[in-house]
Amino acid sequence: MLHFYYKSDELYCEGVPIRKIAEEFGTPIYIYSKAQITQNFELLKNSLRNSKILYALKANSNPSILKILSKLGAGADTVSAGEIYIALNSGFKPEEISFAGVGKYDDEIKFALENDIFSLNIESPQELLIVNEIAKSLNKTARILIRVNPDINAQTHPYISTGIKTSKFGIDPNEAIDVFKKATNLTNVELLGIHTHIGSQIVSVEPFVETAEFILRYIEKLEKNGVKISHIDFGGGLGVKYKNAIVNDKLPFEENDDKELNPELFANEILPILEKTGCELIFEPGRFIIANAGIIVGKVLYTKKSKVKNFIITDISMTELIRPALYKAYHQIVPVILKSEEIEIADIVGPVCETSDFIAIDRKIPSVSRGDYIVVMTAGAYGFVSSSNYNARPRPAEILIDGENYYLIRERETFEDLLSKTLMTKI
Ligand code: LLP
Repeated sequence: MLHFYYKSDELYCEGVPIRKIAEEFGTPIYIYSKAQITQNFELLKNSLRNSKILYALKANSNPSILKILSKLGAGADTVSAGEIYIALNSGFKPEEISFAGVGKYDDEIKFALENDIFSLNIESPQELLIVNEIAKSLNKTARILIRVNPDINAQTHPYISTGIKTSKFGIDPNEAIDVFKKATNLTNVELLGIHTHIGSQIVSVEPFVETAEFILRYIEKLEKNGVKISHIDFGGGLGVKYKNAIVNDKLPFEENDDKELNPELFANEILPILEKTGCELIFEPGRFIIANAGIIVGKVLYTKKSKVKNFIITDISMTELIRPALYKAYHQIVPVILKSEEIEIADIVGPVCETSDFIAIDRKIPSVSRGDYIVVMTAGAYGFVSSSNYNARPRPAEILIDGENYYLIRERETFEDLLSKTLMTKI
């Protein structure tokens, strides 16, 4: 069930009309549904049975959202000291936090160790030695997983495919055997296990099955080499549906509907393979939990027709959602009030001075006019976190809806914020 829906042709989130939020707080604005976050998390948790779910903060790290997830029993998957800091301040306990990433600064390693987080996921032979050294200097033992690059094509956009051998992530499996062996001999690391993450927005189960089988074989190989591990971190990557996210008679229906990965199917295929190892299982989903729980609401500023195009110019731009510019990603766009039966084809664009500043190209949409509110669906993941101040645009506010209630969970930036860290030189 989707917690965004039309009631008498007006878009609601849970018990709140979207128009009301837009009128009270202005646009553009991000709106999230607590019921949807909870539903997504529970579905995943029930499917993945006894596994530990570490929510990938990179998808959306608003502290109010993190608090909901930590109360539901999630841990935190982080990729920077900044994310560790946010996690620690949003309800996650240190022992529920993992830290991945190919380029951890020494200070970040130190920060992770000083805070006694659950694990550091090692991405190169050199990093292993550095982590051991820093741990020694702090008189600590670093719990680690070693990220192996299984060379598996995740069949997703190349920019978010991370498990093929040309990608910067993880260590080549053959080379990694020695890294695992080495880890068991170092004084200040405790080897917990193996980490893989093959990519994001993966909608077919096959690449995951391939990865699980790879891990099973790899653990046997490790054992032959005298290395015993206790944990498997399988990464994240479960894809969601972007097309026809919301369906209504007055909305155009996109043919070639895209798929989403059913978490039950995912679990039924993956768990029996990984469970054979007797290891504790960890997953790091981000998008699946938060993507369809968030939208961006904007306003039509102008409509303009050229000889070859219709443009709908809105106050939502690449600064609020970079995914279309970066990956040509598809997001469904719908009016808040469905007043028109007429469908037009238009480029839906923002005010930023870049041709790549579009949220949709040649998109079928019910006719809208100046002043109408419109919504970008499925924008809860990799939306706000990738926002910017480009063109000196203050970042929007964020609202969390819970039943009939709604809460401001981040204030809109002001013009003063745009200058806040700048210093005027005397020259
Ligand atoms: N674990 C690791 C090591 C990751 O690198 C990622 C995502 C995740 C977990 C979470 O993946 P998810 O379950 O959300 O697919 N900006 C892109 C997505 C980049 C994903 C980066 N890594 C987008 O907007 O599609």
